[in-house]
Amino acid sequence: MVVKMVATSPLFLGLAVSVALVALLRQFSVKQQTPLQSKLWNTEELAMYNGTDDGFPILLGILGSVFDVTKGRSHYGPGGDYHHFAGRDASRAFVSGNFTGDGLTDSLHGLSSTEMKSVLDWRGFYFRSYTFVGKLVGRYYDSQGNPTKYLKGVEAKAARGAQLLEKQKKEEAKLPDCNSRWSQQEGGEVWCDTGYPRLVQRPLEIAITGKMSRRCACFKEEELGQAGLELYEGCESLSKVCPVK
Ligand SMILES: *[C@@H]1O[C@H](CO)[C@@H](O)[C@H](O)[C@H]1NC(C)=O
Ligand SMILES: *[C@@H]1O[C@H](CO)[C@@H](O)[C@H](O)[C@H]1NC(C)=O
Repeated sequence: MVVKMVATSPLFLGLAVSVALVALLRQFSVKQQTPLQSKLWNTEELAMYNGTDDGFPILLGILGSVFDVTKGRSHYGPGGDYHHFAGRDASRAFVSGNFTGDGLTDSLHGLSSTEMKSVLDWRGFYFRSYTFVGKLVGRYYDSQGNPTKYLKGVEAKAARGAQLLEKQKKEEAKLPDCNSRWSQQEGGEVWCDTGYPRLVQRPLEIAITGKMSRRCACFKEEELGQAGLELYEGCESLSKVCPVK
């Protein structure tokens, strides 16, 4: 019936056309809010989605994967703590925390295997929490959208980092942790529910961070003769509680 009216009334036809036109224009203007199609991005395009324009989605790249983070505008928009990540791939800054100048790079050159794992974990977070909208052509994806050697290298090194951490966790699980507390007035102390507190080298720590690091673990009396255990300064051999300076 509508069709017949349109066909018979020139006035109505004009009205129908303008209604359609308005609808089309509206559709065009809200296009920015409709979900972005997954595609290949380049650096310049991505830079437009930096969150400064309220009408635009906010995008972020990590390891060359691009995500729509608009729903996190308070974090990624101007003034937000993560605004530095908007409109670019600043993969390195996820672990370096360096948001100045060249710190905002997608290069992971020189990072350790566990730091690379950490960047990969962040990418996992974005896959779980935000919408994937494509790949950034450059360091991590070629112009066909295939992963580059660089990305494969990063993923391989991150996998080694994950193995190291897993191994460390297993090693550390063999030795129960001390309890600890610290207060401004009384300072710190460590104690064991069963056994005696000793300082021990964290296993694999050199391989993981390049530095030595120690932790407090609990040992039974018959284990106290083992090599590598250090008594807390100012603590008796069989004290259950030791002060920490
Ligand atoms: C940020 O995005 C706006 C458009 O949303 C663009 O005009 C501006 O040039 C971008 N800024 C940078 C630094 O790329
Ligand atoms: C951040 O990175 C830039 C460029 O690599 C460097 O010049 C600057 O010293 C770094 N800042 C910090 C706090 O590490």
